[in-house]
Amino acid sequence: MTIKAILSSPAYNTQTTIQGWVRTFRNEQFIAVNDGSCISNLQIVVDANSLNELDSKRVHTGTSIRVTGVLKPSLGKGQVVELIAEKVEILGECNPNEFPIQMKKHSLDFLREKAHLRFRTSTFSAIFRLRHLLSFAIHDYFHKNGFVNIHSPIITGSDAEGAGEMFTVSNFDLENPPRNEDGSINYQEDFFGKHAHLTVSGQLEAELAALALGKVYTFGPTFRAENSNTSRHLAEFWMIEPEVAFNDLNDNMDLAEDFLKHCIRFALENGREDLEFLQEREATEDKQKPIEERQTAPLIERLEFVANNTFERITYTEAIDILLNSNHYKKKKFKYPIEWGIDLQSEHERYLVEKHFKKPVILTNYPAAIKAFYMRTNDDQKTVAAMDILVPGIGEIIGGSQREERYDRLLEKCGQFNIPEESMWWYLETRKFGTCQHAGFGLGFERLVMYVTGMTNIRDVIPFPRTPKNAEF
Ligand code: 4AD
Ligand code: MG
Repeated sequence: MTIKAILSSPAYNTQTTIQGWVRTFRNEQFIAVNDGSCISNLQIVVDANSLNELDSKRVHTGTSIRVTGVLKPSLGKGQVVELIAEKVEILGECNPNEFPIQMKKHSLDFLREKAHLRFRTSTFSAIFRLRHLLSFAIHDYFHKNGFVNIHSPIITGSDAEGAGEMFTVSNFDLENPPRNEDGSINYQEDFFGKHAHLTVSGQLEAELAALALGKVYTFGPTFRAENSNTSRHLAEFWMIEPEVAFNDLNDNMDLAEDFLKHCIRFALENGREDLEFLQEREATEDKQKPIEERQTAPLIERLEFVANNTFERITYTEAIDILLNSNHYKKKKFKYPIEWGIDLQSEHERYLVEKHFKKPVILTNYPAAIKAFYMRTNDDQKTVAAMDILVPGIGEIIGGSQREERYDRLLEKCGQFNIPEESMWWYLETRKFGTCQHAGFGLGFERLVMYVTGMTNIRDVIPFPRTPKNAEF
């Protein structure tokens, strides 16, 4: 049986077998075992009959064991049930002098170096159970709302975001690739007959599907070779990209807000124990921090607040005005300059959500020049129908827009952004054949997991993070 099943409804006085890994072994008598099914351990009570002296020397933190015994109400404090062992089998030994995960507190930095074993800690098992729950919540939400899940390709020939941050996919001999007369690499000879990349986004393909299936979403890995070594960027991250035919920017905001709230509520309802554990962990960590860096409210309270309050909606232009009129700006506390047209820095985004509004904010209608080519040009000809959702502690969690559905406008934008028409012919054709208003957005899955777990480094919410100079495991 799993420990989760036992703890949720213990079948007292029946014989039960469990398997798991030892967390602690106290007084030659009590073994705390965890099997990953939930945050709690099961207490095993052993004696010389169930665990002989020789075997008892082999039980350490990390040892895997199988225990058969009878469940009894526990007399000790800290648990309601315990397993009185009849037989303990040692399945896999764990040398305490070599096993790096001990019952003392380890730093997250240390555990990142031991990513193959960090699942064994309570913190990481809680994070990855919540990550699973959120993934399930996402599929649940879209399925219930009539969306079709589209598997967009991972290898692509186009740069959807036009940011030029792509990893090349090739089977050339890198030492000696075929070359053109001018010395450049001849990608026509390559596996795909063109310069191919790992995708930065499944959006363009999702749009093609939405213009037939109506409501679709993708949920897959995306890759960005941006060399930003921050606590919020990965080179490989997972993105959820819904796309809806006939939606405009307002519909898009309504969908994104409702969707985010659903995910948070789902975690609150189904991941309570793990959230409580992480909340306590955060509170302990916070005590070591200077007051201004501490959380303003406990994790669960923050999540409930977001689930139950409407997001603030303002335009980019209004945001610039708020920033320019802030005392923070007047006291020259921003590092980067502020004027209409700038790409907002994370210090600006965080000021808006954490200091000014103190809640999630949807920023709309950004200057066209700082956003992707596919966003719909507004009537002012200066801004596009973009929307970013910013949340406290994270900054941008969602980026999206209403799409440019007018063929001529889109072609013009391709020209302005130096995107060759030949590489986008298929995308452009949807604007020729029954085009319609449509909109969508992308949610960075790891940023959502950070938000829900309260973890502050994105490397701690994905099992094996890929960042500059780091692809171990
Ligand atoms: O804002 P982005 O670049 O938007 C797109 O890719 C659009 N194609 C989405 C769409 O409209 N369908 O990325 C979307 C989100 C960001 O808001 C952020 O949460 C996350 O993806 N993200 C990253 N997460 C981790 N590491 C990175 N390097 C990320 N870059 C973006
Ligand atoms: Mg963005």
